[in-house]
Amino acid sequence: MILFEVTRFGEVDSTNEHIKRLMAQGAPEGTVVIAETQTGGYGRRGHVWSSPQGGLYLSALLRPGVYQVIDQADLMAKLPTLSLACGIAVRRTAVGFLAPRVAQDVKLKWPNDVVVQTEAAYRKLSGISLEGTAEGLCLGIGINVVPPSSSKAGKEVYLAELTCSGECPSVEKVSDALLTELGAIYNTWLDQPFLHFLSEYNEHNVMSGRRVSIQAGQGTIEGEFLHIDEAGRMMIRTEDHGVIPIVSGEAHVLGIS
Ligand code: BTN
Repeated sequence: MILFEVTRFGEVDSTNEHIKRLMAQGAPEGTVVIAETQTGGYGRRGHVWSSPQGGLYLSALLRPGVYQVIDQADLMAKLPTLSLACGIAVRRTAVGFLAPRVAQDVKLKWPNDVVVQTEAAYRKLSGISLEGTAEGLCLGIGINVVPPSSSKAGKEVYLAELTCSGECPSVEKVSDALLTELGAIYNTWLDQPFLHFLSEYNEHNVMSGRRVSIQAGQGTIEGEFLHIDEAGRMMIRTEDHGVIPIVSGEAHVLGIS
C-alpha cells in the first residue's frame, strides 16, 4: 500500500526535477512534491508546461516492485500501462468535482491526456509525464484548475470553467483528491493485470471510433482508432495493413483541433 509524503512549495524550477534530485538521494517511494508555480515546467517530448498560479503541479516518486512482491517479468510487461492508469486516476479526480452531464465530456486521449470534448474540438485539462531513471520513476501531473488572469482562449480548459456554479475547489482540495485516487489506482495496478482498467479506459477514450493520424518514428499512420488492448497499445484499423497495434507515437484525431 503506497503512502504519500507530501511537501508543498511556493515556486520551484519543476516538481519533476525536484523529485529526480530527491530520487538520486534515495528518497522513498511515495515522496510527493507540489508547487504553486514552476519556472521550468515541462511536458512530454520536451514541451513547455506553462505553470502560473492556479494550476496543480505535482510529482511523485514511484518504485514499483521495490517494496511490493511482484514478478519482475510481469512488471516489465505491464510498465507501459502505468501512465494510462494514472490518466484514469486524474479523470476520476476531475469528474469527482463535476455534475454528471459535464463529467460525461471528460475524456482520455491516448496515452494519458485528460481532455474535455466539445463538438469540434477537445481542450486539455491535464497532462501527465512518466520518466524512468536508474533509481525509479518520476510521475508528473499538471491539472488546469483556475485560469490565470491573463489567459486567452486557447487549447486548455480549467476545472473552474466546468463546475456548475463557477465555484472551483481549491488547488489543495484537488491535490488531496488526486492523491486518494492515485494511491488506489497504483495499488490496484500493482496487484491486477491492466485488463482490470481496460473497459473504463475504452469507455472514456476520446479517440474510439474516430479517424486518427499517428506520428510514429519518421512515419505517419492513418486509420480508425478501435480501442486500446490489454497491453495499453492503440489498435488501429488501416486500409492497407488491417488492424495493427501501435505502442508509441503522437496521436491526433482528424477533423478535430
Ligand atoms: C504533457 O502533457 O506533456 C505532460 C505534462 C506534465 C506537466 C507536469 S506539471 C508537474 C510536473 N512538473 C513538470 O515539470 N512537469 C510535470
